[in-house]
Amino acid sequence: MKASKEIVVSGIRPTGNLHLGNYMGAVKNFIKMQYDYQCYFFIADYHSLTTHPNPKDLHENIKTVLAEYLACGLDPDACALYIQSDLTQIPELYMLLNMHAYLGELERVASFKDKARTQPNNINAGLLTYPVLMAADIIIHKAVKVPVGKDQEQHLEMARNFANRFNRIYSCDIFPEPHAFNYGTELIKIPGLQGGGKMSKSDGDNNVINLSDSPDVIRKKISRAVTDTGPTEANSTPTSSVQNLFDLMQAVSASDALNHYKIAYANCSIRYGDMKKQLAEDMITFLQPIREKIEAIKKDDALLSKVAKIGAEKALESTSKTMKEVREAVGFKSF
Ligand code: TYM
Repeated sequence: MKASKEIVVSGIRPTGNLHLGNYMGAVKNFIKMQYDYQCYFFIADYHSLTTHPNPKDLHENIKTVLAEYLACGLDPDACALYIQSDLTQIPELYMLLNMHAYLGELERVASFKDKARTQPNNINAGLLTYPVLMAADIIIHKAVKVPVGKDQEQHLEMARNFANRFNRIYSCDIFPEPHAFNYGTELIKIPGLQGGGKMSKSDGDNNVINLSDSPDVIRKKISRAVTDTGPTEANSTPTSSVQNLFDLMQAVSASDALNHYKIAYANCSIRYGDMKKQLAEDMITFLQPIREKIEAIKKDDALLSKVAKIGAEKALESTSKTMKEVREAVGFKSF
């Protein structure tokens, strides 16, 4: 890989199957970026430990994400595709950054406040320092672009803070500023099917469309998506749950189908049942090639272990180089 290309880093936690939100917010950009930038894409298994998965499930989930990355079109020859826990330099940098990360700023992070509210019995230190580990992931490769969905915006702001702070405290210029990236004009938030905010596993499997879901499962999930009783006034603004369906259509359907239902909504003739049927069929068509590849790749243990090994080697080259500079800057010089 040529060093002159801009550096890109991003990762996904292995919490089960990848879903449409992961694909649209992150992976779709990865696939495009891998040939234009020097890319490091990984499976964020350290991050997933905040919720204490059992070891067997964790291992299976790591394998699943690796297979799904490949099925989506990540090319292990073009990018470095690795498992975060294969790189011991990442927790080393995380520990060093933690020395300059403050309780007040960490407690104010929205994702921490959210988790502290929803899992009051497990507010662990890993959860509090999650953005520090994420900063370490990114800046250890000196990345400037980080393809992520909208929900990661604040974490990127923290990564910039930690990078700049390290440079300032140790009077060095090791880390450039990383910025969230999307090929479109804005970062993306794919909505869930239950009428709430973003598509997310934490709101249950019925809220998400997994890339590996079968056509029947997709039809069932979409038919149960939350809507309302229908518009009663012409040209009214859709409620958030109906807007979610339009957003999903925008992601996977042809523009004439989307326009047809927008017009039907505007003149109050829309039938949500028809719209859902159309959306389900378009979703199935969109995901079919990926789903077929997932099935084949998941069975190929030899391929998966080869990819992980080569990816770790590529990433190690970059992480060890940066950590040599970091250790010197901190004062860990050899005698
Ligand atoms: P995670 O595992 O929750 O999600 C992985 C990626 O998918 C995006 N995403 C979405 N985008 C749009 N709409 C949605 N509904 C949606 N749901 C998820 C996320 O924005 C993300 O890009 N902290 C990260 C993992 C991570 C990381 C990193 C990312 C660890 N270290 C370094 C980038 C760089 C996370 O939990 O993502």
